[in-house]
Amino acid sequence: MDSPEQFDDSSPLEPHSPISTDTPATQPSVLFDDNLNYLLHNFSLDDQYILVTGGLGFIGSHTALELLKANYNVIVIDDFSNSYRDVFDRIQLLASKYHEEKGTSVPSLQLHGHDYRDTNALRALLEQYRLAPRWGSPKSKIAGVIHFAAHKAVEESIREPLKYYANNVSGLVNFVGTLGEFGIKTFIFSSSATVYGTLANSGVPLKEELCVHRPEVIKGDDGIDRIVQPGCTGITNPYGRTKWMCEAILADLAFSDPEWTIVVLRYFNPIGCDPSGLLGEDPRGIPTNLLPVVVKVMTGQYDELKMFGTDWDTEDGTAIRDFIHVTDLARGHIAALSAANEGKLRENFRTFNLGTGQGHSVLEVVNSMEAVSSKPIARTAAGRRPGDVGYCVAVPLRSHEELKWKTEKTLMDACVDICNFLDVSGLSSQQ
Ligand SMILES: NC(=O)c1ccc[n+]([C@@H]2O[C@H](COP(=O)([O-])OP(=O)(O)OC[C@H]3O[C@@H](n4cnc5c(N)ncnc54)[C@H](O)[C@@H]3O)[C@@H](O)[C@H]2O)c1
Repeated sequence: MDSPEQFDDSSPLEPHSPISTDTPATQPSVLFDDNLNYLLHNFSLDDQYILVTGGLGFIGSHTALELLKANYNVIVIDDFSNSYRDVFDRIQLLASKYHEEKGTSVPSLQLHGHDYRDTNALRALLEQYRLAPRWGSPKSKIAGVIHFAAHKAVEESIREPLKYYANNVSGLVNFVGTLGEFGIKTFIFSSSATVYGTLANSGVPLKEELCVHRPEVIKGDDGIDRIVQPGCTGITNPYGRTKWMCEAILADLAFSDPEWTIVVLRYFNPIGCDPSGLLGEDPRGIPTNLLPVVVKVMTGQYDELKMFGTDWDTEDGTAIRDFIHVTDLARGHIAALSAANEGKLRENFRTFNLGTGQGHSVLEVVNSMEAVSSKPIARTAAGRRPGDVGYCVAVPLRSHEELKWKTEKTLMDACVDICNFLDVSGLSSQQ
């Protein structure tokens, strides 16, 4: 074992010491020891932070909670454009309760209420977590970033594409540029099954390799290798294109600089909420996802649910989706982070589907909510929305094998949890 003196931070490094030709066994590397020394004195695991943009939103808030449960310190950036400040208190409350019951201490949770594109505010924040080794690349106490902040409404993206390209794409380019300057190069990106475009309708199983950003050699089910070329097929709306573009940008970044580790998570359809009912899907403005609209019907705010597209080629005519419980989805981020930080990824840019692998129709979901809540949900057939597809279900095998992650919760669990959310928030008595 090395003597403590060898790690003494006070021994100055000779700026121009000749590079030794001795083997490492006979002479320890001064440069290496000096840096290790710095890290040992300035950095402990308790002192690691995960930066979560959009951390007060639907998926971000659930992920922040799961991170805190898994003992990560969390820094949230959110501009409240689609969330409310009090979500922060509820995350804090749930994390405190969890750790109190376990007799463990609660990691720290901090909120920075600004646009993630505000580079001055971002720099000031990152400066606080900067570690300053005397040589080499910059280091940070921020061990990883999970980037949720984005606009996400498909229909709005068709009407206002520039709003989507500005926030989702331009924002990302500047963001990763700044992170890189501070030596923060572990990045988890919220992508979407929409990157599969019309392939979702084509009957082929939705595997990650259907949408790649560099040529990849893939072994087919027949055992024969084939090369898949980068590109996308029939992405049906600007929102989906922003996600594809961000993926491509991140793939290029990872290729250009092997210090980056980038995990792209392609979500299918997140639903449900934390079983406590304290966190939920509570967007500002007019909701576009299925369950928030169902909730509005259940609470009397809307007269009926419009089921967009009842003439798809499915058993009941409504669209089929892979509905994944948001807590399972949140835990997928913890699995991705662990795999990234433990060096377990096959490449420094890797895409993963996060879904259950099982499809349910829109009608099935509505009927399940009705059964669980014992409340009738008025619904009516409406035409297909522009940009929709009829079938979209994940093949989640890569996540199972490489992230060691699997969903645990069912559609019924999600419905029960949403009813809890309605009870806790007092919405269920509004009817
Ligand atoms: N919910 C879904 O069905 C779904 C499916 C696939 C992918 N995604 C992606 O997952 C991510 C999170 O989705 P969500 O459902 O939680 O959405 P959400 O709108 O509930 O959460 C996004 C959060 O980001 C914040 N935000 C947006 N732009 C910001 C900015 N410029 N600066 C700071 N904060 C900003 C919002 O206030 C909100 O709190 C998004 O990137 C979305 O595209 C969502």
